[in-house]
Amino acid sequence: MRSTKAIIDLSALRHNLKTIKSIASDSKVMAVVKANAYGHGLVEIASALEDAEMFAVATLKEALTIRKAGIETPILLLEGFFDASELDAIVEHDLQMVLHHWPQIEDLKKFSKNFSTDKKIACWVKLDSGMHRLGFAPEDLAKVEQQLEQIQCVDKPIKVMSHFASSDEPECDFSDIQIVRFEQSTEHLIAEKSMANSAGILMHKNAHFDWVRPGLLLYGCSPLSDSCGADYGLHPVMSLESQILTIKAIKAGESTGYGRHWFAEQDTILGLVAIGYGDGYPRHAKNGTPVWVNGRLVPLVGRVSMDMLAVDLGADAQEQVGDRVVLWGKELPAEKVAPFMDTIPYTLCCGVTRRVEFEYIDSTQDQT
Ligand SMILES: Cc1ncc(COP(=O)(O)O)c(C=O)c1O
Repeated sequence: MRSTKAIIDLSALRHNLKTIKSIASDSKVMAVVKANAYGHGLVEIASALEDAEMFAVATLKEALTIRKAGIETPILLLEGFFDASELDAIVEHDLQMVLHHWPQIEDLKKFSKNFSTDKKIACWVKLDSGMHRLGFAPEDLAKVEQQLEQIQCVDKPIKVMSHFASSDEPECDFSDIQIVRFEQSTEHLIAEKSMANSAGILMHKNAHFDWVRPGLLLYGCSPLSDSCGADYGLHPVMSLESQILTIKAIKAGESTGYGRHWFAEQDTILGLVAIGYGDGYPRHAKNGTPVWVNGRLVPLVGRVSMDMLAVDLGADAQEQVGDRVVLWGKELPAEKVAPFMDTIPYTLCCGVTRRVEFEYIDSTQDQT
């Protein structure tokens, strides 16, 4: 059987949550599990994060998947509702939501007129402190507060949040500007506040506020270039593994794969690995991308195919068919692989396809 699999280590995940809690020790943690928990499996990850005080997701469907699994932890919809028809389910399943633009407030006013339960919806007003993606302009906050005050189904006091544009660039001072804008525009409010994503948690202690919102850190990766999760005491949660499917000796000057994108400089031995872009290994990975085989790193050579890729094992290779290969994970951090694909660890984890078997382990080794 083809043995391409993603091994998901739930004890590493819990260890990472504990580590984040020690870094942001005065804040509660909203664990970001959107996009199928960054490709790790939403229900399995949410079930293992018993110590997270809240989950954050992007869609109602994601929130309902968590609720259907019997998990009662508070959940925040990071983009709120897309359509007013979602509001009944938001109330029924006790979800919290972000409000980021006026049409949502207009819909809430209409919804509230027919609102006949004692339940209220906890709302986070998102402020645009400079990213210019989602959020109200800080100067609109007073008007937003005034209007929400009048809406019966909105739980009071409201909560406030913002999001960093470039917290993963330590040399850039824009995050400091955003923190000041957020602080100044919300200082009059006695409200729960949230700003820091993973990079914010690592780089901006003054932005931890009441709630931190880690995504990538939970999964054991660093959002900062030139560093790995291990530098912050984190353990990779996903290991993407496969096996050598066949071994092939080729002569100097010969090529491998579609388009003949790499030529052997000397006689060598190739290992063909049973993983390709059909499994989520990026097709545009460059020659030289590191691949872990039997305890050593060898270069990817030639174009990645749908079902397989080639590595140069060298003329003296001792590898055998069936030997274990790690594309990223414990032996080879995703942060070290991603630059060879002009991407970031986020997309690698999110991109693993459904063809890959997911195996969940809870290693007993002491992770603390
Ligand atoms: C609003 C918001 N908060 C927090 C996060 C988590 O980000 P990270 O994975 O960098 O921690 C995200 C992710 O995109 C987000 O959109």
